[in-house]
Amino acid sequence: MDFAEILLSWYDREKRDLPWRGTKDPYRIWISEIMLQQTRAEAVAPRYEAFLRQFPDVFDLARAGEEEVLKAWEGMGYYSRARNLHRAAKEIAAEGAFPQTAEDWRKLPGVGAYTAGAVASIAFGEAVPSIDGNQVRVLSRVLAWEGEGLEAEAAIRVDRKRPGDYNQALMDLGAGICTPRRPNCARCPVARMCRAYLAGDPEAFPIKRAALPKQEERRIVLLAIAQGRVLVRKRPAGGMLAGLWEFPNYIEGEENPLPEAREICALREAKHVFTHRVWHMRGILAEIRSVPEGYLAADARDLEALAMPSAFRVYRKIAMERIGKER
Ligand code: ADE
Repeated sequence: MDFAEILLSWYDREKRDLPWRGTKDPYRIWISEIMLQQTRAEAVAPRYEAFLRQFPDVFDLARAGEEEVLKAWEGMGYYSRARNLHRAAKEIAAEGAFPQTAEDWRKLPGVGAYTAGAVASIAFGEAVPSIDGNQVRVLSRVLAWEGEGLEAEAAIRVDRKRPGDYNQALMDLGAGICTPRRPNCARCPVARMCRAYLAGDPEAFPIKRAALPKQEERRIVLLAIAQGRVLVRKRPAGGMLAGLWEFPNYIEGEENPLPEAREICALREAKHVFTHRVWHMRGILAEIRSVPEGYLAADARDLEALAMPSAFRVYRKIAMERIGKER
């Protein structure tokens, strides 16, 4: 048996029972693949079901307001995925049909080569790879691949009859067995044909480039209370965490956006790690007489309903306790 055959028979025995595995519905496959771009399958599963209950088809999603979609995405991070998903749903609804090929899927916002390959292979049976970190890791080990051009190697290996299962088999292998550290080669169905394993050091692949250090920022987060409510503002439409709601915050030593607020006490510190930066936050509880332009005075119900980045989780909890008490 060749590589694809062994992989597929392993998949038939061992595949993970995930909620998007029983369908070929392109809407459902597409939603799952967008969620899976940066979130682990186990964490996606419950959110996926809830999202589909809220937006059962692409027309429901296209009709929804952006706030509603962002709220449904809360906690999963990388919110540009939600905004792109919403924009793409509008394009699909306007077109009246889903794209049928990987090439056409790629034209939608938020759909890169990986996602286009996954959706086209799983939902439409097109023999294209879906190359993500997992697939790169598994294939670079099997082939002991050192240079460029792994994509072409990946493409010729896709099983023509069962491309979607083939791609998902590589995902499962990468997630459960061919892991970044300490891969479980004893349980790997293709160990016998894996050059990195046979050479004795699978972890040497993929060959790594040095990681860039993350940018560290010290931030002050203001819980500014105005008549029993707390001030929040909406982040700008572009850039990091675009369009989400936040407590006013600023880099320590830079300009305080609410100089008129009177400090009451310091709150606890919190840290949040993003992909390219780290926030070290200090909270300050403050009081303010009136609501400045550009801010919303949120009550507990607003705070619950607004889509807010997970970075502020600690302070949202404190704010909820605080304004809950003052009611
Ligand atoms: N990661 C990305 N896509 C996936 C899928 N279809 N199944 C499991 N894990 C995945």
